Amino acid sequence: MSDFDQERKNEILDEIIMSRRTVRNFAPDAPARELVLQVIQAGLYAPYARAAVESFEDGYFRRFFIVCNGTGNMSAISSMMNRMACEKYAQLERQRSGDPSFKERSRSWAQRLKWFKDLGHVPGVTTSPYYILIAEHRGIPDLGQRSLAHCLENMWLKATALGLAFQITTMASDMGDDEEFCGLLKLEPGEWDLMGCALGYARKTPGPSKRPPVDEVTTWL
Ligand SMILES: Cc1cc2nc3c(=O)[nH]c(=O)nc-3n(C[C@H](O)[C@H](O)[C@H](O)COP(=O)(O)O)c2cc1C
Repeated sequence: MSDFDQERKNEILDEIIMSRRTVRNFAPDAPARELVLQVIQAGLYAPYARAAVESFEDGYFRRFFIVCNGTGNMSAISSMMNRMACEKYAQLERQRSGDPSFKERSRSWAQRLKWFKDLGHVPGVTTSPYYILIAEHRGIPDLGQRSLAHCLENMWLKATALGLAFQITTMASDMGDDEEFCGLLKLEPGEWDLMGCALGYARKTPGPSKRPPVDEVTTWL
């Protein structure tokens, strides 16, 4: 590769990294299925914890489920995730009531869960044309969520490169032990870690991310 090509490649990568944003307001238009598959392919090519999952011989270690908005499956997934948000909120409030220091530290998360509960759905679910669930085999040791973080980042960067909008939804990570939810995906409950994201087009494209200067957060030792 020539120096020019290398430089251009680096510039393009920086451009994609800097313009990647969380989008929470989606247009109703659905991206072409081909684009959705390109995003999934980027996720499939993300690293995975081979040593943790290679002794499992029951199929692929990473699976993707595309839920289209307006379908019965989307409604079912949304209501199961909302039920989980309500349970998590009740559980968190019990924990907060006996521990003033924890109560203060968990304020932001408690507010978020209460908002989900009042809204009646988890933001990102039913609010975009596609909701994608990604399942990673838990393995030994269970590194599923860590592998999923790599997978989601690849998908997010690819979505950015394709001009698509992306929103990660943490609540999906609580669904891996839920029998009804896993049943809908035909996955064995307790065997998979889950994560989810909304995909579509942004109603309004957010500006670039704001971060501190790199030397302010870096220490050379
Ligand atoms: C592990 C993780 C979980 C996140 N969960 C959510 C979520 O459930 N809903 C959401 O809207 N954003 C979620 N986000 C997005 C962050 O809020 C977002 O990345 C952060 O505010 C910085 O904004 P940016 O992504 O536009 O740079 C999550 C991000 C990470 C890394």
